[in-house]
Amino acid sequence: MLERTAPAGSGDSALLGTARRIYREWYGKLPRVQPLHPYWAAMRHLIRLVDRAADNGAANVVVIIGGVADTVADHLPGLHSQVSLSELLEGNFSKAFHQPIKFDLCICTLGASELRRFRDMVQTIAPYMSSGGKILGFYPNFSLRSLSTDEIAFLQNILDLPWSVRIHYAGSDKSARVVRRFHATLSRDAGGRLAKLVRIATILLSVTPSALAANRSEAAAPEEHSPRLPEHCTSITIDVTVTERVVPAVIEARRHLEKAISHISPSQPSYGSRWQPQIDAIRRDIPALRDSMSCLHYAQKEITFDGRPPFQSDLMQIQFREWAVENEFPNLIPTLRQMYDNPLSYPESLGEFNGRTISRIFYCHARIVLAGITYANRPKRILEIGGGYGEIARLWLTNSIAPAESYVIVDIPESLFFAEVALKAEFGDQVAYFEGRDPGTRILLVPIPYLGDLTRSADLVINTGSMQEMTDEWVDFYIEWLAKYDTRYFYSLNYIAQPIAVMGESRNLWSQRLGAEWSTRHLRLNIPLLDLEGPTRDFLEALYEKSPATRRLKEWSIDRGHLLSKPTYVEGLDLLRQDFTIENAKTFVRTVMERMPYHPKELLYIVEWLTRQGESEFESLRGKLREELGGFLSHAPAPPKNP
Ligand SMILES: C[S@@+](CC[C@H](N)C(=O)[O-])C[C@H]1O[C@@H](n2cnc3c(N)ncnc32)[C@H](O)[C@@H]1O
Repeated sequence: MLERTAPAGSGDSALLGTARRIYREWYGKLPRVQPLHPYWAAMRHLIRLVDRAADNGAANVVVIIGGVADTVADHLPGLHSQVSLSELLEGNFSKAFHQPIKFDLCICTLGASELRRFRDMVQTIAPYMSSGGKILGFYPNFSLRSLSTDEIAFLQNILDLPWSVRIHYAGSDKSARVVRRFHATLSRDAGGRLAKLVRIATILLSVTPSALAANRSEAAAPEEHSPRLPEHCTSITIDVTVTERVVPAVIEARRHLEKAISHISPSQPSYGSRWQPQIDAIRRDIPALRDSMSCLHYAQKEITFDGRPPFQSDLMQIQFREWAVENEFPNLIPTLRQMYDNPLSYPESLGEFNGRTISRIFYCHARIVLAGITYANRPKRILEIGGGYGEIARLWLTNSIAPAESYVIVDIPESLFFAEVALKAEFGDQVAYFEGRDPGTRILLVPIPYLGDLTRSADLVINTGSMQEMTDEWVDFYIEWLAKYDTRYFYSLNYIAQPIAVMGESRNLWSQRLGAEWSTRHLRLNIPLLDLEGPTRDFLEALYEKSPATRRLKEWSIDRGHLLSKPTYVEGLDLLRQDFTIENAKTFVRTVMERMPYHPKELLYIVEWLTRQGESEFESLRGKLREELGGFLSHAPAPPKNP
């Protein structure tokens, strides 16, 4: 990178000085020459584009130094930088700046050999250009060299760049004659400086009338002629406007998001301290996400959808996970072996194991699919509440044993944005976004504001790692919705029995509080695979069937001599939810208070409920438990990225 220096002062004689003054007045100074000058028509596209950029507010300029166009934007008010083409292509450009910078204009004079390198140059400099910034390549062809078909093909390649590209050719029979004569005189080296000046002055005077006429007639030709290569080409100006390029799937997902948000009812509750800050961060960051890959990587790294860690170098850690899943579902080992992670996932999270690409978190996603297939009778029509960026959906749709025929995801619109982009990248037009009308596609994405209009039924509804992070208001909302929704099963994998004082990511007091219209078919406290991920929270895996509950609290095993431990606590809680009366709630609370060595969060939920029913004797316990809770933990979103 070079510091730009002002032109050196000259020690010309008075005669030369006068000649230069007259020359400048009449003919201008390259690159900004006047219409009397033989090169005016050849320079005019470049001058016009630079002046238009300046009128539009361009300020910062970078010049790829080395030719006649170098000073054309010297008058712009911002930062001026210079770099040689080789320095730029060697990747030294970014090192020159201590802080990120964006240029509005880049000027590059191209020699014959550099025409072929212009495309690379544009791609290298583009990340440093502001949106709408212009990269202008100028090839002066004053020697009237004819362009080879190869060179023309290279120029056409530039048109494939993902930005707006225009090529302007200059040259006509008349201007070519003038340019050729003038250029030949300039190129002759015979005699001293004064002799050369005299020669130039003489030729200028003799060609001026024809130069003016040729320039005028070339400039009068309609501008749409300039993209055509003339027979006698005097210059080529390539005009690249670097615009933000957003792939169509992202544009569509942004549009869907905006519409869904505008449909949110003013009475909709906040998403709570776990998700509201992340939703705010997503809204802040979506404008910078332009393609499927950047959306997926953002979802995987910046949002707590799946807490995806880098791939383990210790393959034994992966082997343990594979064994943990195989041990639970030995009959589905071939299915597990055919499942693989999304190949567009961020590369550091991916690795090869048993012949396919996986990540560590892949096992958690895959296991949910295998559990659903096993416990809910190979369901074909799935609805997922809180589907993250759609990875469980992807595995359910592609697994070899029971691929889903219909997969619906219900989520916060901002989260659904990521599911839409990721699933469209793989399933294309099998994916539709629900805005009140169901087009019957295999995959349907339903933002919360439109959930009330959804009529498509499901064999199974799933919610994993999700209700646990919702507020109590949202848990109530989904429990009411599930009671009415046309489905047979509900599968839940969420936290349970956390000590009130250790809530972690939990944002409610009881996630699995379904009504008595649901029978419990499967309950499992803690999953070996999830313990490998971090044995600091207790998960309850549960499958419920929509069929009136028949179990009673009096069946609780602690009344038959079992200790009150976490598993029997969870058993009693599930019996209570099926048989939820004031008397049973009181019995449950008293038993837990007497026999359990700590206070699980659901206890506070039940005590709150009892006091709301007028059972004032529980008020002091409620106060004590609330004190233990000490307020919910908050979750800080990722800080903004540097532009
Ligand atoms: C931790 S991610 C879990 C993603 C996925 N279920 C999994 O197990 O990998 C939690 C998901 O719940 C969603 N979520 C949070 N609050 C929600 C709400 N009120 N309604 C629907 N989804 C919600 C989030 O947007 C996110 O997709």
